[in-house]
Amino acid sequence: MAPQNAYRPGRDHTSRTYPVVPPIYQTTTFELDDIAYADIQGTGGLHETWYSRFNNPTVEAAAAEVARLHRSSRSLMTASGMAAIATTLVTLLRNGDTVVASRQVYGDTDDLLDRDLPALGVTVVRVDAFDTAAWARAVAEHRPAVVYGETLSNPQLRLMDVPAVAAAAHAVGGRLVVDNTFATPFCTRPLELGADVVVESATKFLAGHSDVIAGAVTFDDDALAEQVQRRLITFGGCLDPHAAFLAWRGMRTFGVRLAEACRAAEAIAAKLADEPGVEHVRHPSRLDHPDAGAVIEAVMPGPKGAMVSLVLKGGDERVLQVLRRLEVAVEATSLGGVETLASVPFNSSHFNMTPQQRLEVGIPPGLLRLSVGLEGEDALIADLRQAISRTG
Ligand SMILES: Cc1ncc(COP(=O)(O)O)c(C=O)c1O
Repeated sequence: MAPQNAYRPGRDHTSRTYPVVPPIYQTTTFELDDIAYADIQGTGGLHETWYSRFNNPTVEAAAAEVARLHRSSRSLMTASGMAAIATTLVTLLRNGDTVVASRQVYGDTDDLLDRDLPALGVTVVRVDAFDTAAWARAVAEHRPAVVYGETLSNPQLRLMDVPAVAAAAHAVGGRLVVDNTFATPFCTRPLELGADVVVESATKFLAGHSDVIAGAVTFDDDALAEQVQRRLITFGGCLDPHAAFLAWRGMRTFGVRLAEACRAAEAIAAKLADEPGVEHVRHPSRLDHPDAGAVIEAVMPGPKGAMVSLVLKGGDERVLQVLRRLEVAVEATSLGGVETLASVPFNSSHFNMTPQQRLEVGIPPGLLRLSVGLEGEDALIADLRQAISRTG
């Protein structure tokens, strides 16, 4: 007989069929049975649903959705993008190993590479994301266990030549891990280009509504996925079921959201380039993008992403004035929501760098980062024009 304290769905409702959306299994634990005990004995409990830090059906529903977007065999959900990145790197690296990593990465990833991994005995060698020859040289010289970069860098919007860097990594027995947060699987699926692991902040375009912090790690190699899953369990970076539901629901509209946001971003990049007050516009759709040609064709052949970086005449002072005058776009850090967000790296995503360090990684004064949402290109272009024209 079932214990009186356990939930029995059959007692509460009469539905014979499956729900269209996954229920939120807001439970830490599940009744144990012989199958669960056998899995705990056999694999350490990796496969059965018995404790939510290991497995939870709502979290698995979200993971399946990420895997589907990448056309991959397996994704894991994590508590945040940083949990995805840190858990993956610590799984793949040992004391004495080397990682060759891009210089153009998200600020907290930079801290992980500069401070936390060296403290664990890992040597970190940095190269410019877009310098394919430098990747090849550094990888051949240092024979890293892991090569790490962002497919589309934050906020320079430079591309990494994923097929070339993957080939270099594999030639020395290393693995390529890429952060695909900015590009998203709508614009590129790095596993198909040779990457071994994709890490993403699902907080951004995947979940897409600025209402949940989450991360994802995606693989085509089940053995590798299991290694990372084991570390995720011991490090405890599991995603909460309610957050997983929000991520799952956000991903149901991923394609339509991204199609619209990428289209609007391209229009903004085209129309604002000649605006008085704008020194430069960076978006991979533009012919003056420094990676235009073979690299963009190889890595992002279709839509070019929903992030736009504008460099304004008048530097950071002007950008701060522009931010305060925006009426449609919201002055906030983060990205990937249905609302357009505008931010400045120097006081948010890259506050931990000196001005000189920011210059060295390609973040000049006056850079305004836009995460384009769903308000429509006309409203956004008008908003940016009025804010820019009233400053400077
Ligand atoms: C490119 C990139 N990777 C990773 C992260 C970290 O994601 P999270 O905030 O979900 O931990 C961010 C956050 O902004 C990011 O922009």
